[in-house]
Amino acid sequence: MFPELRLRRLRKTRTLREMVQETRLDSSDLIYPLFAQEGTGRRDPVTSMPGVFRLSPDLLLEEVDSACRQGILAVLLFGIPESKDEAASSAYDDQGIVQRTVRLLKERWPDLVVITDVCLCEYMSHGHCGVVRDGQIDNDATLPLLAQTALSHARAGADIVAPSDMMDGRVRAIRDKLDFNDFAELPILSYAAKFASAFYGPFREAAGSTPAFGDRRSYQMNPANRREALQEVLADLDEGADMVMVKPALAYLDLIREVRDEVLCPVVAYNVSGEYSLVKAAAAQNWIDEKQLVLEILTGIKRAGADLIITYHAKDVASWLNDGR
Ligand code: PBG
Repeated sequence: MFPELRLRRLRKTRTLREMVQETRLDSSDLIYPLFAQEGTGRRDPVTSMPGVFRLSPDLLLEEVDSACRQGILAVLLFGIPESKDEAASSAYDDQGIVQRTVRLLKERWPDLVVITDVCLCEYMSHGHCGVVRDGQIDNDATLPLLAQTALSHARAGADIVAPSDMMDGRVRAIRDKLDFNDFAELPILSYAAKFASAFYGPFREAAGSTPAFGDRRSYQMNPANRREALQEVLADLDEGADMVMVKPALAYLDLIREVRDEVLCPVVAYNVSGEYSLVKAAAAQNWIDEKQLVLEILTGIKRAGADLIITYHAKDVASWLNDGR
């Protein structure tokens, strides 16, 4: 107790503070999300996400090149297809935008960890993550399509598949499909506790995946539920997930901590589009210091228990970390 205890003693100099720092961000913690679209030479800005673009494969490769130079080890790939239908056919087309981009990436950077988002919403004409029957999202009819999508990503060379649809049983369906087709070694990163969140707004502009009717509350979780998040995580691990995710991150830091304490596998947090856009909007007004704020946010997510963080700030953060060395 005071006066013996003076916690300020260890805060006196920069070096001391650095020595007693408990949580440290590293570029190897970061996963960089990217949006692939058809064509060549296309770089369309996402207006609600300053600094984020929908890129044709040639320019996406350039972006990955600059990210790799900053020390980014992993990317998460989303696809924006030319055509959508009621069966999400281009999601599991071997010549689809994600499949072709994965092949290009792996050809050029065999060591880059390419993670693919496995979901149908970007490929469905109605924008829902599953098959629609009589105005409802049909869980079991969706599973084979998800499994087929994951398999086609695996065949293209994806290193990790990440299902984000929130259908029940999808991890098992994907695991079975992969195992049966000689991909027993391919890891699954499950978006296990994914909440129906207003923070996904900007992403839906980026991916063109706003539902044409209703919302996603019949499959994504109610933000008010804590125990159910653990149920989702445990169920996905039972079904064969190798890593689990909590999404979004900032309004769910308590769950990141809880999941970290409950399971032994790596825990991933998704610092989602709306969280990014809020920072960018405030930074554009000079209301906050972008670099300090982003580093504080990501350090907070890591301190909460995330081993890995998916963030649109990844490339910037990696370059700031390099500058600091
Ligand atoms: C696809 C998917 C979404 C996000 C990741 N995968 C959107 C959604 O569920 O509506 C959101 C990512 C973000 O907001 O950055 N289902």
